[in-house]
Amino acid sequence: MHALELHEVSKVYRSGDDEIVALDHATLSVDDGEVVALVGPSGSGKTTLLSIAGGLLRPSSGSVCVAGKDISTYDDKALTAFRGASVGFVFQSVNLVPFLTARENLLVVAEMNRRGGSAAKARADLLLDELGLGARRGNLPDALSGGERQRVAIGRALMNKPGLVLFDEPTSALDTALGEQVMELIAFEVKGRGVAAVVVTHDERMADHTDRTVHIVDGRLQH
Ligand SMILES: Nc1ncnc2c1ncn2[C@@H]1O[C@H](COP(=O)(O)OP(=O)(O)OP(=O)(O)O)[C@@H](O)[C@H]1O
Ligand SMILES: [Mg+2]
Repeated sequence: MHALELHEVSKVYRSGDDEIVALDHATLSVDDGEVVALVGPSGSGKTTLLSIAGGLLRPSSGSVCVAGKDISTYDDKALTAFRGASVGFVFQSVNLVPFLTARENLLVVAEMNRRGGSAAKARADLLLDELGLGARRGNLPDALSGGERQRVAIGRALMNKPGLVLFDEPTSALDTALGEQVMELIAFEVKGRGVAAVVVTHDERMADHTDRTVHIVDGRLQH
């Protein structure tokens, strides 16, 4: 079974009289434990593809299967439950809750899924330790560096043990050395857990840390 299977997925945005084809019959399979880099120019459809894969956006046509379940048939309620339990997101902008500490930013996603308690606390502490943030767990995001915030976001995405994690340019705000470190950490954390991942990047060098690179141009995947 594939962790993610997009079949002939298209997305057309309408703005006024214009139609923008952001994804054009995209077909992509990602195996369990596989880390795929998605590389393409600005406006080529990368964020659109991730958003559809994670159930944040519905395709105009085509099917989207995650762990064998066709999420394109889900209603809003089922999609919300799916996002909370089965998929992790790391956005470029990181989006940590500013008034919660690093540790609380991990715990809050477990609590949203009614999975709080001591098991969640133990998992948050384990992830923070692995991500090199053990001593920073009590810091608010404002009192963390950019790379540290990025690592908290990675921990948060892994908190609920999703089968699939989607990264949208996780290293673009970091300098090259730190970007490489974060990329290595993503590969290590994801592969060590048998989690599948799609990592969007502008930077071909980041693709060195993934199993496979898929290019996208004008909404079309080039295999
Ligand atoms: N909500 C929207 N309404 C209309 N057009 C949109 C919308 N979102 C994205 N687009 C258009 O769809 C195309 C793909 O956008 P997308 O955000 O997926 O690109 P991207 O590859 O992530 O780009 P970047 O590298 O700049 O983040 C672009 O032409 C964009 O302008
Ligand atoms: Mg984008």
